[in-house]
Amino acid sequence: MTTLSTKHLLGIKDLKLDDIRLILSTAANFKEVLSRPIKKVPSLRDVTIANLFFENSTRTRLSFELAERRLSADVINFTASSSSVSKGETLIDTVNNILAMKVDIIVMRHPNAGAAEFLSRYVNAQIVNAGDGPHEHPTQALLDAFSIQEKFGDVKGLKVAIVGDILHSRVALSNILCLQKLGAEVMVCGPSTLLPKHINSLGVKVSNNLREALEWCDVANMLRIQLERQDIRYFPSLREYIQLFGLNMEILSSLSKKITIMHPGPINRGVEITSEVADSDQSIILSQVENGVAVRMAVLYLLAGRTAE
Ligand code: CP
Repeated sequence: MTTLSTKHLLGIKDLKLDDIRLILSTAANFKEVLSRPIKKVPSLRDVTIANLFFENSTRTRLSFELAERRLSADVINFTASSSSVSKGETLIDTVNNILAMKVDIIVMRHPNAGAAEFLSRYVNAQIVNAGDGPHEHPTQALLDAFSIQEKFGDVKGLKVAIVGDILHSRVALSNILCLQKLGAEVMVCGPSTLLPKHINSLGVKVSNNLREALEWCDVANMLRIQLERQDIRYFPSLREYIQLFGLNMEILSSLSKKITIMHPGPINRGVEITSEVADSDQSIILSQVENGVAVRMAVLYLLAGRTAE
């Protein structure tokens, strides 16, 4: 298989196992390119990509932009706070105005679940979902899978615990779908109030006990508490959350085996993990960020190839 089965990347739910494998193997090739003195390739010359960010981002926005420039694409950037969205322009009008400037691919982050899928139905461009509210963050899941594969050789058969605010996390849903397609077992762990009601239907193990999850897993992906998406209190206090679900060196070193620690960022140091854990030799957090560029190069390269069919 040399092409993706989808025209857009809206979510991991739309990807077949072969699509994921193709993205990961293409990303490995681009990672090798990125280790060369000259890191730029001409693959997307004459392709124009618009990065539309309606919600804050550091890693995803910079990583996409770097990936696009490494592929020699023409790039335009849009942030909602400095645009005419604040004057009442609709999403479709905003995007169609951008498309009138002859844009081929749109990379979009939006606070509303389903925004990328909605856009794909109404505008004539390829859409890449860079995170839609609490729904999906497909490139994060792909770079996480790539990082696990790089560390362990294969994702199949591994046990991955996703810990923290599962309810508000697009990273959790995309990771669950991606890891399961690749043959990993997944456990989610957090306070009951931060686990979605439908969680059992996703075929994951569920725990409310951090030590139990950590003893079970090979890899722990520690998620941030998304206070900005919480309109009610989901736990009595941050202090209590840290006591029950915060990962520190004392817990990590007391486990019966050495596990790998991941975090999609941004980290709240001292909340979901301590600085010592984040910076320890068991953490692959900065490898995740590094791999994000190669994975996003692979996604854009493969999607652009679909238009040549
Ligand atoms: N992991 C992630 O999506 O980070 P940003 O919100 O900084 O893009």
